[in-house]
Order: sequence, then C-alpha cells, then structure tokens
Amino acid sequence: MKVYLETYGCQMNVADSELIRSILVEAGHELSPQVDDSDVVLVNGCAIRENAYRKTYGRLDLLRPLRLERQRESRPFVVGVLGCMAQNMKEALFRHPVVNLVAGPDSYRALPDLIAKAGRPKEGGHRSGRRPKIKKEIDADLSIVETYSGVEPLRFDGVNAWVVVMRGCDNFCTFCVVPYTRGRERSRPKDEVLEEVQGLAEEGFKQVTFLGQNVNSYRTEGASFADLLLGAAEVPGIERVRFTSPHPKDFPEPLLEAIAAHPKICSHIHLPLQAGSDRILDLMKRTYTRTEFLSLVDQIRATIPNVALTTDLIVGFPTETEADFQDTFDMVERVGFDSAYIFKYSERIGTIAARDFPDEVSPKVKTDRIVRLFDLQHRIALEKNRDKIGKTFEVLIEGEAEKRVGHQIGKTEGHMMVVFPSTGLPPGALVPVEIKEASPAALFGEALRLSVLNA
Ligand code: SAH
Ligand code: SF4
Ligand code: F3S
Repeated sequence: MKVYLETYGCQMNVADSELIRSILVEAGHELSPQVDDSDVVLVNGCAIRENAYRKTYGRLDLLRPLRLERQRESRPFVVGVLGCMAQNMKEALFRHPVVNLVAGPDSYRALPDLIAKAGRPKEGGHRSGRRPKIKKEIDADLSIVETYSGVEPLRFDGVNAWVVVMRGCDNFCTFCVVPYTRGRERSRPKDEVLEEVQGLAEEGFKQVTFLGQNVNSYRTEGASFADLLLGAAEVPGIERVRFTSPHPKDFPEPLLEAIAAHPKICSHIHLPLQAGSDRILDLMKRTYTRTEFLSLVDQIRATIPNVALTTDLIVGFPTETEADFQDTFDMVERVGFDSAYIFKYSERIGTIAARDFPDEVSPKVKTDRIVRLFDLQHRIALEKNRDKIGKTFEVLIEGEAEKRVGHQIGKTEGHMMVVFPSTGLPPGALVPVEIKEASPAALFGEALRLSVLNA
C-alpha cells in the first residue's frame, strides 16, 4: 500500500517517524509524498498542549472528503493517528469520522498488522446492500522494555541524525502528559547506540543529536550518559555531538566535565527552568529550587567556558500570582539564557495538575505574562548576540538560506543560527564565520577561509 506519514510534536516524534518508515518499508509498503493517491494516511501527533491537539484534528478534518470518496469507490483507506496523541486519546479518537487506526509510541512494530486489518472492509456490509463498514484497529499498550532494537531508522539525508538513546519519563512533573504518553524510562545499550553512530558517520552524517524525554537520565549497567557522549565523540567522521532534552536533576560533575573536555561534544545545554518561584516549582514537582537551579548554572558556567544555555518556561501555571511571575522574570534576567521556548500553561487531562489544581489563571493574564517574558528574552538574546559581533565562530553548514538568495545557513556550537554569503562548500562542512550583524534569533557574518576545517 502507499503510505503518507505526517509528523507533529517534538524531535522524539520526528525520530519515531523514522522508525515507523523503516518498519513499513520492511513490511513491503511504499512511502508516498502526497495524501491524494495514498491508501494509508498516518498522522504522528503530539499531546503536549491544547494547540498540538488542534493541529492534528485540523489535519484529520481535511481528510473528510477523501474518506467519503474512498468509501464511494469501495477502495480501502486507512487513516491512523500515532504518537503521544494516540496514546493519550486512545479509542476516543474513533469519534472522529475519518480515523480507523490508533497506535501509540510503543506499538509501531504492530503497524503492518494493524494496517492490514484496518484496510480490510468489514464483512457483511455488502450483503446488507450498504457500503462496507470501516474497520477500526487500536494498539495503545505501553511497554516497559520496547526500544525498537534492531529497527534501523529510515532517515532522510542531512547533516544531523537524531539518535534515540532512551525512551519514557519517570518524573511526573504535575503539568505534563509525557509520562502517560511515553511510559517508563528505559535506555538502549551503549554498544548498540555507538554502533548506530558509527553507521551514521559512514553514511556521511556529521552531527548526531541524542534524544530522550530525559536524555541525561540515560543509564545502563556499566554506562553513564557521559560515557555515551564520550563514545560518540570518538567516532571518526562525527564532528558534533548534541543532546536534548535533559532535566536539571541529572547533571553530575563527570557529565559536565565530559562536555567541557571533548571539543566535539557541543557546549550547549538546554536547561528547562519552567518557573522561577519556589512555590510554583514545588507545585510543578520539578525537584529543584531557584537557588539550586542558579547554583547549577554557576557550576555549568564554571566548568564549561562559553557554554550556551537555553530553556523552557511556562507562564500561568495554576495559582501563579504576579509575584510568582516576577520570580520567573527575575530568574530569566539573572541567568541570561541564550534562547527560551515560552509556553502558556495548558491543562492536560489525566495529569496531577489537572486533578489537583483548577486552571484558574485567565487567558488574558497568561497572554500578558508571555508577552512580557518574550520581550525580556528578546532583549537578552539581542544583547548576547550583539556581543558576538567581530568574533569568529566555527559553523556547521546546513544548506542554502531559504530567505536570503546566495546565502547559506549553519549553526554554531552553541546552536545559534548563522547566515552568510555562500561559500560553495557542501552541507556538513565546517567553516569559520566572522559575525558582522546580530538579531535576537540569528547571527549574520562572512566565512573567513574557503577551506573545510574538518570535513
Ligand atoms: N522532557 C523535556 C520536554 C518536555 S515537553 C523536559 O522535561 O524538558 C517540552 C516543554 O513543553 C516542557 O519543557 C514544558 O515547558 C512544556 N510543557 C509541557 N507540558 C505543558 C503544559 N501542560 N502546558 C504548557 N507547556 C507545557
Ligand atoms: Fe514532562 Fe517533566 Fe518528564 Fe519533561 S521531565 S517530559 S516536563 S514529566
Ligand atoms: Fe509531544 Fe510527545 Fe513530544 S507529547 S512534545 S510528541 S514527547
């Protein structure tokens, strides 16, 4: 069958879609770049906030005419929802008239089987003179062991390869749906991960990004997360090793030292703060106080010179007062993050916060707070980026700049985007770029030498 797959949500879903493609192709299906001539449409959906739901439902609504057309033609048509959205909603997704397959993040090995069953018309429909009924198939059982060992992700070519090193989350931050959609933490054996990295280097990937819901909680018998990073950084051909998303609770000294010591492990840490008030941090169950977070930042900066720090923040968590918000504002000012993702609290059914605390901060107040925080972060990022003018950074070229003809884009080690006149060098090359201009989200400069440093 021809399968069209669309992905929403975070890098974990993107990486899972690479597994899904591999499983489907292995089973004899063909991947299709468009919906119209597909027999199977799969939407790998996210559940993290209400707008993630809306995106998937919006996509499903657009499939209504095609579902009706296929029904008229009595041609099999499977529409499946996958990922965190599937795990979170389960059978309730069948209330949407186009959906007839649901599979959660630990059920992808069953997909070929589910597709085969869902694609077969229900028996008896024809005999009664009516159109055959649509069959509905679901597998949304979470596993405590599934890591898709032996499934080789089907990646598109590029400079960066995502490598899932652990799955699941055991933290149960009170606002978050992920522990319910992704299940318990489990890590892949170090040798298996490093073998994959080796293969990626041979295929020409220059950067690997280790992924996990709590990537630095990675641990197996005999290997820590620091061991894993160091192992990957030693693989010939790999120029950069990154990881996301870590939790502030798992940054032991040896991990920071590994990042500091190895030039190929990027000096960039995404350190989700979420909120700046101790009372709110406690209600969120984040397991650190503002003082502890600040001392971790100090320790990181003392160990890893020029480290880039980025973060995630939530405004409008239940009971957040103006004073609590000021604490977040104050923390953002004090730390001076290089960039931040800022979200309005979105109540998720089934979470501890949804059970215990009403979502009482008004939409207006949430908007007001997010705008103030955006403005602050904008100012901080601009200041930090302006400080980079006149300095030279090593940039990993990603490709042509879409918005500036004759320019290329790439990233610094600190994950900042750099735009510069085309060098003629291919994606994957490393070039020194002198920074001439700065905006809050990007740097603009000129490549110094047209030589490939390490390619
Ligand atoms: N495991 C990662 C990423 C989790 S999801 C981590 O712990 O950092 C990414 C971000 O989405 C979170 O860091 C948080 O800032 C935000 N988020 C999660 N649940 C949310 C909710 N219910 N409402 C608003 N933002 C949320
Ligand atoms: Fe969600 Fe917290 Fe787990 Fe991150 S650590 S995925 S925010 S429960
Ligand atoms: Fe969304 Fe699941 Fe990622 S809820 S953010 S796709 S882990």
